[in-house]
This record gives sequence, structure tokens and C-alpha cells, in this order.
Amino acid sequence: MDKILILDFGSQTTQLIGRRIRDMGVYTEIIPGDSALDSQLGPDLRGIVLSGSPESVYAKGAAPDKKLYDCGLPLLGICYGLQRMTFDLGGMVEALPKREYGRIGVKVGKSPGGGLAAHFLEGFRPSFTAWMSHGDTLTKLAPGFREAGVSDTGYPAVLVHEEKPWFGVQFHPEATHTEGGSGILSAFVFGVCACKAGWTMERYVEEMRASLNGRIGGSPVLLLVSGGVDSTVAGALLLKTLQSDQVHLMYMDTGLMRKDETKTVKVNLERLGAKRLHIVHCEDEFLTALKGLCEPEAKRRAIGDLFITIQEREVVRLGLPENYFLAQGTLYTDLIESGRGVGKMARLIKSHHNVGSPLVDAKRKAGRLIEPLDRLYKDEVRRLGRFLGVNEEVVRRHPFPGPGLGVRIIGEVTREKCDILREADAIYIEELKRRTNGEGRSLYDEIWQSFAVLLPIRSVGVAGDERKYGWVLTLRAVTSSDGMTADVYPFQAKDLLEISTRITNTVKDIGRVTYDISSKPPATIEWE
Ligand code: XMP
Repeated sequence: MDKILILDFGSQTTQLIGRRIRDMGVYTEIIPGDSALDSQLGPDLRGIVLSGSPESVYAKGAAPDKKLYDCGLPLLGICYGLQRMTFDLGGMVEALPKREYGRIGVKVGKSPGGGLAAHFLEGFRPSFTAWMSHGDTLTKLAPGFREAGVSDTGYPAVLVHEEKPWFGVQFHPEATHTEGGSGILSAFVFGVCACKAGWTMERYVEEMRASLNGRIGGSPVLLLVSGGVDSTVAGALLLKTLQSDQVHLMYMDTGLMRKDETKTVKVNLERLGAKRLHIVHCEDEFLTALKGLCEPEAKRRAIGDLFITIQEREVVRLGLPENYFLAQGTLYTDLIESGRGVGKMARLIKSHHNVGSPLVDAKRKAGRLIEPLDRLYKDEVRRLGRFLGVNEEVVRRHPFPGPGLGVRIIGEVTREKCDILREADAIYIEELKRRTNGEGRSLYDEIWQSFAVLLPIRSVGVAGDERKYGWVLTLRAVTSSDGMTADVYPFQAKDLLEISTRITNTVKDIGRVTYDISSKPPATIEWE
């Protein structure tokens, strides 16, 4: 299968380059910019993209393997990637008097000759707005390069090489703010690299079937499922590609789950063919561990520690043979954020807060950990889920944090508060699924993540003619692409008013509803 390799020099948009190209049906892999290339070169590799970077080419650090310029493959340098090529190949890069940032116009001429340069330039509009973010510029082109496009500010914006299949753009075609950006990437991928679009979910399942069976044989596999998209799709994939009685699925009902979650998980997994589903009821243990704890980190630690203790106890109880495999629904992005993959040069924006587990570490060390989604982005996991017949309600589900309602009940967590929040949250979500925007799309699908939070405050109100002293609930709804940053969803006032009324009329312990209007940063998505 044809593949494009992306050398990551630390730009925040490296991931987007990968996603845009995969959306065209071509497989991409991201590796650190300074990786040795020998093991990467092969008949499937059709071209290499050099990403942007927060650094200058003069900063000490990553330089690509020198083989990059001898391998004969088409290269596309993006922003820093273009400066890197210019610097490495004998041109000059210098600091701009003032950093260029934001939307800037670019004009592109036609290629005087034919060949690959003409194929590449066919992907460009003659004049368009591009997204730029650079503090350096090219002051002398490397030998053999020609300027094919210039920015309105007078700097080289598009470069082609006269003989070699080498190209560069000073802006970010992967950013949605660049007009026609996908056309530019597509011209490189199909016009220059001559890739065939072979990256489909059908193909992914066939590849996984061969590799999982080869690796696991008849051994048992245990997958911990949470009810979320990733673990459900991982479960569906295992059930589809292995013998179903080989696949053990374990789900922990911590009591911090959403309304009817345990019931729904059971129905969904059994529909997918699960025969060995182990549901662990451990609500009391979690509520006991959380008793008296108010501080967010203390609560997170208590939940994380207990999760591990119960997980280990229950795995022993299952009595699986020593050689069993452990499966996890890790995604490509998780791999990158955990520092096990690439991205080591990106500046840390947020440390990941998933529970580390000694069981996972031990299985990884023993070579018995399988992560069948670890080459997929979230939207691809959703596509795979649909392909495997996972219920649409699961596929479109918003993210839910590991510690569950434990971090959505501010202050001490009690069973009573969990029940109140579960009811209110279920009404909120049901309303979002039922309501549509002007174009007929449900608000739930418009929003990236939505949930209710129970505050440790009560306020006075009236119900009938009686004084009511009820809890305060806040609603959260954000748009985002990956949860790293988030904007507040701009509801129509009518929707919020009606949702609030329904909640206060139905959930008797709630006296007041507010809407959280904080973006991330400076707030985070969850409250704790
Ligand atoms: P924050 O609150 O950091 O959340 O803006 C970003 C995204 O991560 C989710 N989140 C978690 N997911 N374990 C998880 O698996 C956790 O401990 C956790 N904490 C937050 C959050 O729901 C949002 O989607």
C-alpha cells in the first residue's frame, strides 16, 4: 500500500498533515524529524513531507538524516521544512524583521516547463489566502530551486526544483485557513508521488486479521472496555478478526458512569458477538474510596489507584493462562502524546492524565500487549466502527474521562450526587440529540463534548409556593478538534432556556442551571 512519510520537526499541525492525506485515502506515518531513514525506505514509500517547527534552522537539535536528499523520493517542505531543505542544500535562511503570522495572500505563476513541477503547481489557485506562521524566511534559494509563488509581503512562498522532485511552501496547506490547502497536498500526493488511494477500513480489517492471528494464535485476549468509542471499536475488531470465545472483555462499573451505561455496554457488546463479557460491579468500593475527598488531585489519585487494584484482582479472578494477551484501544494520537511515538519535539501543552497501569507495563514488557487501533486517528476509528457495525450511538459519542462523574461532581462525591448528576446529564444529552441547528444537524453532532457538572453549592428558589434550596448545575458544551484547545459552543438562547427549564422541572434536587462560558485555555474542558 502506498505510503507518505512525515518527518515531524515539532509543529502543532504535523498531525493535521497526516490526517489530511489519509482523508484522501493514502496511508501516512509520522516519525521524528531526525530519525534514521534506512528502515523506512521501501517500495511502498512514495514521498516524504518535512513538517513545520517552533524552532529556527539555527537552533541546536533536529536535522534530518542526510539520506533524505539521496533517496530519490519526492520531498515537500512545509514552513520550517522548506527552510530546512534550503539550509541543508546550500541556500540561506534569515530572521524576518517581524514575524509573519496569520492569513497572508499568495500569488502563484504557472510552470514554464512540464514535468512534476507542472503537476505540483496544478494544485494551486493563481491567488489565494494562506495560513503562515514563521519568524525566518529564505534570503537565498538553494541551487536548482525556483520561486513559483510569492507572498503579498514579498517573500518566497512556493518553491519548485528545476530537476529534482523537490517542493516547498512557506505556509501551512494542512491548516483549514489556507484556501485550497487540500488541493495542494493532493497535487503532491497524487500528481507528484503518483500514490494510489488504498487506505480503506476494509483493508485495515484484513491486515489486522492477518497480523492478529499471526501474533496471538489461539491464546486468550483480554480487553478492558469502558463503553467509549475507542474500546468498543477495539472490541468489535477483536471479535471480528479472532474467534469470539478467545476474546474476554472486562468492564468495571465504578458507579461513576453515566445513566444506563452498564446496560448499554452489555447490549452493544453482545450484539457485536461478545461471548465472554465480565462486568465488575465495584460502585461501593469507589464511593468508599472517595468518601471525604474534596481536592481534585486526591480524588483522581484515589480513583486511579482503586482502578488498578480492582483490575489486577479481577484479572486474577478470571483465571486466564499466563500467556494471555492484553489489548487496549490506544489511538495513534495517544501514542504520540504519551511520548512513545513521535512528537518529542513539540512543546508540551498539556500532560496526559490517563491512568498508568502496572498490568499494562508488565504485558508490554513481555511483548503481550496489543493495540489494534494504534495506527488510527479518532475519525478513522469512527469510520472503522461503522464498518464493523458498531451502534451509531456509540460511534458518535462524545469523549468521557476515565475518572467519570468523579471529576464532574465538584467536591465530595456521594451516591446521591451521582444519581442527581446522572439524571440531569441524561436530560441535557437527550435534548442536544433532539435539537437541530439551522441546517438540520443535531446539536450533539455539532458539539465536540458536552456534559453537566454538579457544583457544591445550593441556592434558594421557589417551587410552587414553597421555598426550594436546590443544587446548582452547570452545563458545558465545547467545540474542539482534539481537546487540546476548546471554544464555547454558542447556543441559541432558546435552546439553553428550554433545557434549563426541563432539568429544573424534572430533577427535583436541582434549583438552578448555569452555562459555562469559558474557553480552553485558560479553563480546561473538565472542571477538575
Ligand atoms: P481537559 O479537562 O484537560 O480535558 O481540558 C481534555 C479532554 O480529556 C478528557 N479527560 C480525560 N480523559 N482520563 C481520560 O481518559 C482522564 O483522566 C481525563 N481527564 C480529562 C476530557 O474529558 C476532555 O475530553
